[in-house]
This record gives sequence, structure tokens and C-alpha cells, in this order.
Amino acid sequence: MYAVSAKSLTKSYDGKTNALNDLSLEIPQGSVYGFLGPNGAGKTTSVKLFTGLLKPTQGECTVLDLNPVKDPSEVHRLCGVMTETARMYGQLTGTQNLLFFAQTAGLSREEGNERASELLKKLDLWDARDKKLREYSTGMAQRLSLARALINRPQILFLDEPTSGLDPESAQSVNSMITDLANSTGTTVFLCTHQLRYAQDLCDSYGIIDKGKLIAGGSLENLCSNIGSRAKAAFRLQEGDSLDGFDYDSGWWQTELEQEGQMPKLLKNIVESGHDVYEARLVKPTLEDVYFEYLKHQEETK
Ligand SMILES: Nc1ncnc2c1ncn2[C@@H]1O[C@H](COP(=O)(O)OP(=O)(O)OP(=O)(O)O)[C@@H](O)[C@H]1O
Ligand SMILES: [Mg+2]
Repeated sequence: MYAVSAKSLTKSYDGKTNALNDLSLEIPQGSVYGFLGPNGAGKTTSVKLFTGLLKPTQGECTVLDLNPVKDPSEVHRLCGVMTETARMYGQLTGTQNLLFFAQTAGLSREEGNERASELLKKLDLWDARDKKLREYSTGMAQRLSLARALINRPQILFLDEPTSGLDPESAQSVNSMITDLANSTGTTVFLCTHQLRYAQDLCDSYGIIDKGKLIAGGSLENLCSNIGSRAKAAFRLQEGDSLDGFDYDSGWWQTELEQEGQMPKLLKNIVESGHDVYEARLVKPTLEDVYFEYLKHQEETK
């Protein structure tokens, strides 16, 4: 059973253009999946379809084998959702908001209290627990929204830009919480984000979406090999020295490798041919590098 699956999932808001076009994917349980794409690509639309907030125009999706259109309450019981627009109550305090959502999620009063306290502490909101939400800063409100998404110990957590309004320290604590959740409880995380560096640290697989179409998917290794993005070997030599056939960039002599395994031999050859090597490194393509390659490729092949 997949955590999330979609088959030809399509959504049009206006009956003319497809905000989401023929999306098919399968996300195994326990995965931390990064859903990446430019503004307007269809990420939030997908999350709303998976969580039953929207109905597909065509195709279908399932969450733990449940259809969110047919079985919305069961899907809500198993999922936590944090979106940019998730509504909570400004006139209620942090604690009151969480207790309210604990109750709607079916937790007993005692369980709700316990879980709310635990999350307020974890998300560094304990001191602000009795403040009204409308007096919270953007980042505080966002962390409360994450606490709300976690109140029912969801099996799948949908996070739509969870760190976009956060300062670096809070972003880091939210990110490490995501990692902890995945590692310790096996929670599946579906993460929409523009923050590719964080995504690379957090996620084990990715989908890249552009203008409603999924243009690539898989692990970072899959993404790299499918678009032919390779690691480079880079060497820093004595000033004035050079390597024939290598590119020079900001103090480093570089060449693309077909496989990372070529690195030791290459370094040995360079040293044996009399060069003094001060530093040697393997430069692997980052998620950001391949993301832009895919978008560029998509633009060129249109
Ligand atoms: N409620 C709506 N009514 C009409 N069109 C909508 C609605 N919500 C989204 N759209 C359109 O659907 C497309 C996809 O939007 P969506 O919000 O899913 O993108 P996104 O990938 O989440 O973008 P962002 O990175 O900016 O959050 C866009 O063209 C957007 O204008
Ligand atoms: Mg969005």
C-alpha cells in the first residue's frame, strides 16, 4: 500500500486550463517526498486534492488506499495538513486553538491537553501559549499551524511551504522535527517547498512539477542520472600550475567524471605527473543544480 498515489490526476479551476495535468505518482510509506516547482506549478492544488479539499476534474488519487473524495473523514483522521492558508482562530490562544483541533480530531480532553503541551514545547511556543493567535508573529503562527497538523499523530503529513516565513533558527528546528518524525515514527512527509537546500537535506525522493505537469521524479541520484548531470573532480594546484584539458574556475581545475569511482586514479595520475595538489574534491550536483537543469530542459523542448 502506498502512502500517496495519483493516477492521471487532473484539476481545472476554470474548465479551460489545467492547473494540474495528468499527474501520476506513487509515494511509499515512510518516505520524505519533496514536491518542487515554480510558483503556480500546481503543488498546493495537488495537496488540496490529496487531502480532499478539492475534487479532481479527472483521474483519481488515494491516501493509504483511501479515496479522499469518497472517504474524507477517514483521510483527515490519518493525515495532518499544514498549508499557507490553514485557518485557525485569531481570538483564541495558542493552547485553545490546539485543544479545539484536538477535539475535532477526536482526541479525548486529557489526550488533547497532553499532546498540545508536548507540541507547544517542541515548537518553542510554550511561553506564548496563553497569547491570542492574532498577537503571534508570522513565524509563531506558522509553528502553531505545524503543531495543529501534528495534533492527531498523523501517518502522513502534508506540508505546504512549512518554513517559508521562518527565521533560520526556527526553520532549522522545524526541519529537524520533520526528520525526527520520519525517522522515529515512520511518518510519511509530503513536502512542498522552494527551499531546495533544505529539501536536499530532508527528502529521500522528489517530484518536479512545472505548469501542472510532473516533469521528473525519483531520488537525487535518479534525477542526476536521468538528465546526465555528473559529478566533477576539482583540484587546487600551486599558483601558475595548470592541467591540460581541465576547466579553470575560481582557483580550481575541474573536469567532469563519468563515475565517481574515477576520482582516486585521476588524483594519483595528477600527482605522479609532477603536480603539487593542495586540495582535491568531488563536486556533486546539488538538488538546486538538477532542478534548474530540468526546468531549462523543459523550456527548451517545448
Ligand atoms: N482557487 C483557485 N481558483 C482558480 N485558480 C486557481 C486557484 N488556486 C490555484 N489556481 C491556479 O492554479 C495554478 C496552480 O496553482 P497552485 O496554487 O497549485 O500552485 P503552487 O505550485 O502551489 O504555487 P506556489 O509555489 O506559488 O505556492 C495557478 O495557475 C493558479 O493561478
Ligand atoms: Mg502553493
